[in-house]
Amino acid sequence: MIELGKIKLPSPLVLAPIAGYTDGSFRKICVKHGCGLTMTELISAEGIVRTNKKTLDLLAFSDGERPLAIQIFGRKPEVMGRAAAIVESLKPDIIDINMGCPAKKVCGSGNGAALLKDPDLIFRITESVVKSTSIPVTAKIRIGWDDNSLNYLEVVQALEAAGVTFITVHGRTRAQQYTGLADWDVIKEICAVSKVPVIGNGDIDSYEKAYEMMEFSGCKAVMIGRGTFGNPWIFSGKTPTVPEIIEQVKEHFDFMVEEHGARAIHMMRKHIVKYIHGIKDAAKARGAIVIATGRDEIFRILDEVEKSA
Ligand SMILES: Cc1cc2nc3c(=O)[nH]c(=O)nc-3n(C[C@H](O)[C@H](O)[C@H](O)COP(=O)(O)O)c2cc1C
Repeated sequence: MIELGKIKLPSPLVLAPIAGYTDGSFRKICVKHGCGLTMTELISAEGIVRTNKKTLDLLAFSDGERPLAIQIFGRKPEVMGRAAAIVESLKPDIIDINMGCPAKKVCGSGNGAALLKDPDLIFRITESVVKSTSIPVTAKIRIGWDDNSLNYLEVVQALEAAGVTFITVHGRTRAQQYTGLADWDVIKEICAVSKVPVIGNGDIDSYEKAYEMMEFSGCKAVMIGRGTFGNPWIFSGKTPTVPEIIEQVKEHFDFMVEEHGARAIHMMRKHIVKYIHGIKDAAKARGAIVIATGRDEIFRILDEVEKSA
């Protein structure tokens, strides 16, 4: 058990929000493998207050995904406060505010990482969310908009003053998108001065590296994104056998069908390719999986992968 302010987590290894990947099915699987906290993908505050059906679907979660944070994004303090009150009624453990999404669609309208340009607005948004709810509020930031505006210390101060419980720092600028390396030195610098606990994020691709980041930077917990793709065992440090991998893919598939219905097959392809990557002779199965159209067919291909490994 670790403590991040008023929040207790069973492990310091946290699942990152990844739009299109970290849905309820994957969150449940990561918790089974020892993940300490899961997070929904970014969800529009405007969509929440307008009760947009697709937006509300993204808010769904089950108890098997706890502890869980719902991540919201927006730039209007009043709308963010109203959205937070609605989100609180669903009883997540945390409400997280997205201040790092680099996508044009999101930043173009002044949301996500675009907020980093305006620490005063960050304060007002966060304060509005904190005042509208009684559950812990957290924020996920990047270290700045670009190399010429590394204003992370100012942003961290604004978040502390507004009352966040912890801050997740992805050690890249918006301009970097997902290229280059995450700057662990900056994460270390922020940990040294932040009054609230920091979760470090960026480029963790193994269990060992997760602990390396904590040791190096002094962060209390770490968040893992792309390193979880096809590898929920990253949370336990276990190396799975091929039969364990195939069994996990099948369970994931069935969770996805339950969660998404007919869309599941299409959505599951990217996961399967990641799970079987590295298994001997599995490259041959990839083509067949990408065009397979039914559960039986996919499970038969997976059985063949297991047999020929
Ligand atoms: C496809 C994709 C979607 C993402 N979606 C979100 C999101 O919805 N909210 C968010 O805060 N970060 C999002 N991120 C950023 C990740 O949470 C994480 O900060 C980033 O991938 C760096 O961590 P990693 O090196 O462990 O992957 C996304 C990243 C990727 C690659």
